[in-house]
Amino acid sequence: MAQHSTGYTIGFAALVCVVCGVGIASAAVALADRQAENKKLDQQKQVLAVAGLMKEGEVLKPEEVKKRFADNIKPEVVDLKGGVAAQGVDPASFDQRKAQKDPAQSREAPPNNAKVLRLPNNALVYKVMKDGKVDTLILPIEGYGLWSTLYGFLALDAKDANTVKGITFYQHGETPGLGGEVDNPKWKALWPGRKIYDDKGTPQIGVVKGQAGPPASDPYRVDGLSGATITSNGVSNLVKFWFGPDGFGPYIQHLKAAGGK
Ligand SMILES: Cc1cc2nc3c(=O)[nH]c(=O)nc-3n(C[C@H](O)[C@H](O)[C@H](O)COP(=O)(O)O)c2cc1C
Repeated sequence: MAQHSTGYTIGFAALVCVVCGVGIASAAVALADRQAENKKLDQQKQVLAVAGLMKEGEVLKPEEVKKRFADNIKPEVVDLKGGVAAQGVDPASFDQRKAQKDPAQSREAPPNNAKVLRLPNNALVYKVMKDGKVDTLILPIEGYGLWSTLYGFLALDAKDANTVKGITFYQHGETPGLGGEVDNPKWKALWPGRKIYDDKGTPQIGVVKGQAGPPASDPYRVDGLSGATITSNGVSNLVKFWFGPDGFGPYIQHLKAAGGK
């Protein structure tokens, strides 16, 4: 075939496509395990950070993360509707985000301001253990901001199942400097000490426009993110949703009834 013929050019381009395609596919398959391992490690770091077991900016080797996690954290799969531990589901292999997309393991969410479309039947929570007792509960939260779904964790004092110990968002697509300030350690530091529920057991906590007072005198309000009221409202909505009757409300009721055990 002549080197500059149309057939040669198309054939050469097709060959390059096939070679590159095989290369990329092989790399994706070969690196899949490592990607899954890194994802798991990142989740463990997020859980340690919101639990206060890893300081802001602290750098840990993967083995140190795994050890600190194993020494302090007990993962548990919770049946959301029943509010009790799910039977026969291994927390080590349970993937809540995957379950949420699987029609066999999830249901349509009732209309909600957090814009959560599907609810997993089971959710993965983490218990921070201290002297053999549950010290802190770490619950996954998610909901829509302005541009994206924000994914994070909220840490709750197990003693009253009401006092916030920390919040973090590990994945979102909000604008850096505006809604992206949900990542700002100074803003996250405004959460500990606030209360989720009022005396009637209704989730009251919310991000307000402007400034809130200190937790002791203004327990249900957190400073708004300046220039980012839509993301701020999104955070209020998602926290209220996940601590309400369609989220972890039944689980928290059971824990309170059992005296936080
Ligand atoms: C490019 C661009 C990016 C923005 N990103 C965000 C954002 O991530 N979160 C947000 O709430 N508002 C964002 N806004 C602002 C919103 O459109 C809206 O004006 C704001 O949420 C209102 O908040 P404020 O009343 O505190 O000013 C963005 C605006 C522009 C032009």
